Amino acid sequence: MTACGAAYRSFIGNLGQAGRRMLIVRQLCKTFGRPAVDHLDLTIAGGEIYALLGPNGAGKTTTLRMVCGLLTPDSGSIEVAGADALADPARAKQVMAWLPDEPLLYDRLTPLEYLEFVAGLWRVPTVLARERAQSLLRELGLWPHRGEPCEGFSRGMRQKTALAGALLHDPALLIMDEPLSGLDAAASRQVKDLLRARVLTGRTVVLTTHVLEVAERLADRIGIINAGRMVAEGTFVELRDRAGSGQTTLEDVFLHLTAEQPA
Ligand SMILES: Nc1ncnc2c1ncn2[C@@H]1O[C@H](COP(=O)(O)OP(=O)(O)O)[C@@H](O)[C@H]1O
Ligand SMILES: [Mg+2]
Repeated sequence: MTACGAAYRSFIGNLGQAGRRMLIVRQLCKTFGRPAVDHLDLTIAGGEIYALLGPNGAGKTTTLRMVCGLLTPDSGSIEVAGADALADPARAKQVMAWLPDEPLLYDRLTPLEYLEFVAGLWRVPTVLARERAQSLLRELGLWPHRGEPCEGFSRGMRQKTALAGALLHDPALLIMDEPLSGLDAAASRQVKDLLRARVLTGRTVVLTTHVLEVAERLADRIGIINAGRMVAEGTFVELRDRAGSGQTTLEDVFLHLTAEQPA
C-alpha cells in the first residue's frame, strides 16, 4: 500500500473512534464506611478530553480506580470501548492506560530504558517502540535527559516520563489522576499539547483535577462531582450558564454548584 493509502486508512480508522462512546459508567457505587462514589453515571465519547472536577475527597480517584480495574465496585457497570470492564477486565485493559498521581518509576533506569521495559510488558514491536519512545520523549521535552537515571529527576520530569510510558502502547483511552499537579508552566504546556494532539486523532483522555483552571483550559467537557455524585456536567460555557448570571469563571461556577449540595 502507498504511504498515502496508509495515511487515508489510518485517518478513516481514527474517525471510527471519534464520537463513539468510549467509556460508559452506570450507577457506580463504592462505600468505605460511608459512600465515596454514589450512583455515578458517566458517558464519554471517543475524541474528547473529559475532566472530572471536584473538591478533595469528592470521589474522583476512587471512580477512576474502579474504571481501571484497580478497585472493585460495590455495584454498577463499566463499559470500555464496548467491553464489559467488570466481566472482562483483560479486554478493557488492552485499550486503556492509567497514570496515577504519584507514578512509580524505577529510579535506576533512564527514560529510554524505562520505555523499553514498558514496551516489553505490552509486547510493542521493537522498531515501533523505539519510534514512539523517541517522539514521546521529544514532545515532552525529555529527549536531552533520555540517558540520565530517573532518580535525579524533578517531580515534573518523573510525571512526564510516566506519561510517556502510559502512552507507549497507544491506548485508545488514557486515564490520568491529577496529571498537571507539580508541573511548571512549560511542562504543563507540553502535556496539554500532547493530549490535544491525541484527541484530534480520535483517542480519549479522562482526567481528574481539583484545579479549576486545568479543567477550564484543557477539557472539552467537565463533570463536577461532590460527595461521590455528579452535580453538573457540560462544557465550560454550559456550566457557566447553568450557574446563572454574574458567574464568570469556573471557580465561581464550581463554588456555586458544590455549595448547592451538602457534602
Ligand atoms: N482505601 C480507602 N479506604 C477508606 N476510605 C477511602 C479509601 N479511598 C478513598 N477513601 C475515601 O473515599 C472518599 C473519596 O476519596 P477519593 O476518591 O480519593 O477523593 P478525591 O480523589 O476526589 O480527592 C474520601 O472520603 C476518602 O477518604
Ligand atoms: Mg484524588
